[in-house]
Amino acid sequence: MDPVGSAEAYSAKARPPLRPDMTVRQVAADYPGCREVLRRYGEPERRSAKFGHLEPLDHFARRQGHDLKQLLQELAQAAGTEIDWQGRQAESVHRPFLLSALLVTLSLGAGWGAWLLWEIGRAGRFTAAPVGHVVAHGEAQLWGFIALFVVGIALRYLPRSAAGPLPRPLFCHLLLAALLLGVVGGFFWAMGPEQLHWLGPLSGLSLVVAALGFLTFLSRQLAGKLHFSWARLIGAAGLWMTIWAGVTFTLRYRQSAAGPGNYSEPLRQLLMELAIFGFALNAIYGFGQRLLPGIAGSATPYGLALESTFWLHNTGLLLLLPASLGWSLWLEVWATTLLLAATLAYVIGMRGFLRVRRSTPRPEVGEALLVRYVQLAFFWLLAALILLVGGECWAAIRGQPLSHAYLGSVRHALTVGFMTTLILGVGQRLVPILGHTLLAWPRLVAPIFLLIATGNLLRVSTEMATLAAAPAFGIMPLSALLELAALALFAANIGRTLWPSLDPLLRSGRATLRTSVALLLAEHPWLEDQLLDWGLGYIGRTRSVPRELTLGTLARSEGKEPEELLARVNDLLQKRRNASS
Ligand code: HEM
Repeated sequence: MDPVGSAEAYSAKARPPLRPDMTVRQVAADYPGCREVLRRYGEPERRSAKFGHLEPLDHFARRQGHDLKQLLQELAQAAGTEIDWQGRQAESVHRPFLLSALLVTLSLGAGWGAWLLWEIGRAGRFTAAPVGHVVAHGEAQLWGFIALFVVGIALRYLPRSAAGPLPRPLFCHLLLAALLLGVVGGFFWAMGPEQLHWLGPLSGLSLVVAALGFLTFLSRQLAGKLHFSWARLIGAAGLWMTIWAGVTFTLRYRQSAAGPGNYSEPLRQLLMELAIFGFALNAIYGFGQRLLPGIAGSATPYGLALESTFWLHNTGLLLLLPASLGWSLWLEVWATTLLLAATLAYVIGMRGFLRVRRSTPRPEVGEALLVRYVQLAFFWLLAALILLVGGECWAAIRGQPLSHAYLGSVRHALTVGFMTTLILGVGQRLVPILGHTLLAWPRLVAPIFLLIATGNLLRVSTEMATLAAAPAFGIMPLSALLELAALALFAANIGRTLWPSLDPLLRSGRATLRTSVALLLAEHPWLEDQLLDWGLGYIGRTRSVPRELTLGTLARSEGKEPEELLARVNDLLQKRRNASS
């Protein structure tokens, strides 16, 4: 699998290629040689404004009744550059990965986990859920929710932010297919290893292929950038993922006939450490460095603290792996202390995720509550690691490993309290940014937060309480309802944001305050001159309008009354419709 186009082909595109969604004005400004072609194709000269409307080339060609391909070829020749037909496709590369992650977590992951918790709660003991079934849930969540989510975001975000080459569509399809075979195949093998013994090694091998493909993609994206700690953290995530896949394959191969129910306790622990501390935390620390200051509105991070996060975390992990295989209980204390020190360094480096930059509330900057998801997630990461270090000290003093309930409670604080809460918060901010759109249902941000926060708190506390009081078993399953509800609402919100409903402008011909200005001007380029006449100077200055800019925000930023502007726009649209009917 060659993940990206050749480096030579990429560097040959030093002059940005032409794309069908570029505006006429942008092309005329960037490539003055194109003006003549555009004029010939029907773009008028205007005295009052810059040459070229804010109309995308594909709309322009359609409206003027010309062939888009021919227009682009003539423009490319005049500009001396290439045509990029894949740019739009690359912008949606993450969509099937995120959709698959949401479907897996609602069914084989959290859905199945809820059933297991019900069984445990009913019986009043953890052994009521067979080991093979618990491992199936854990692997579905870690490979099918966390890994699919991170890989999807990486494919979309890295080429854009690190100016790396775009991944090939075929590579992305194969990567998704390999991950899904690994997740779904692994789950069904765990349910019936006697009948499906061949599916264990096959699905494990599929995960190895996927991890190697992802590592190759990362190496192309991060080449020449490894002096940045964020790039090294992301690279480390790719390496740990490959080792995690290798161990998963080896175990599925060796236990192909018996299933994961036969995995020993230390090996289950090893799998979780590779996934959570090796892959997920390195990826979160790395991507977080780039994304979280923007989402939290926090000050510029401290570079030295973030640099030490990389070394402390990965040294701690290298010590933890032999320790958890039973080498020494005190080694586990040292290893987890280093992991905790890394998290402290990260939180300090990221300035505690405290908001210092405030922006005026508008739909494009996302809901203010999203910063609380980030703060809550890191609170749980710190809490989980403090509990882990304290627990390991106690275990080393007593000379006995930690109990299932204690470790289970800490693990849930890490997987749901930290990782899931963070994904829910970052997802509702990042997915709209990547799609140049708005979050479909901003009103869901608060209920999702409440559900995941209370669900996780209930689960962590009741699982811990089972150590002292048996009735806690009966309350525990309630947490599954809250967490599942949070995940279902999140899935609905993200799904609708990835595949938005038609703007009312396209359905009814009437704009709303949330209508995208870019869409309005693409559909009705004649409106541009009116907006200029009404004193919206931005329309005259810009070369293209960001797709996420709404009519309401445009009005407010230009000092106009939004409702009044909307009424004037809709009035003109109505008159135009009447005139043409
Ligand atoms: C509705 C949400 C969830 C429910 C009801 C749930 C339920 C459970 C249950 C009943 C267990 C076994 C009992 C125990 O050890 O505590 C378990 C273990 C586990 N869960 Fe979850 N879980 C949920 C969400 C998640 C999420 C989001 C992740 C990862 C992102 C996750 C990862 C794991 C892992 C790794 C294990 C341990 C597997 C093993 O021992 O091999 N869970 N979960």
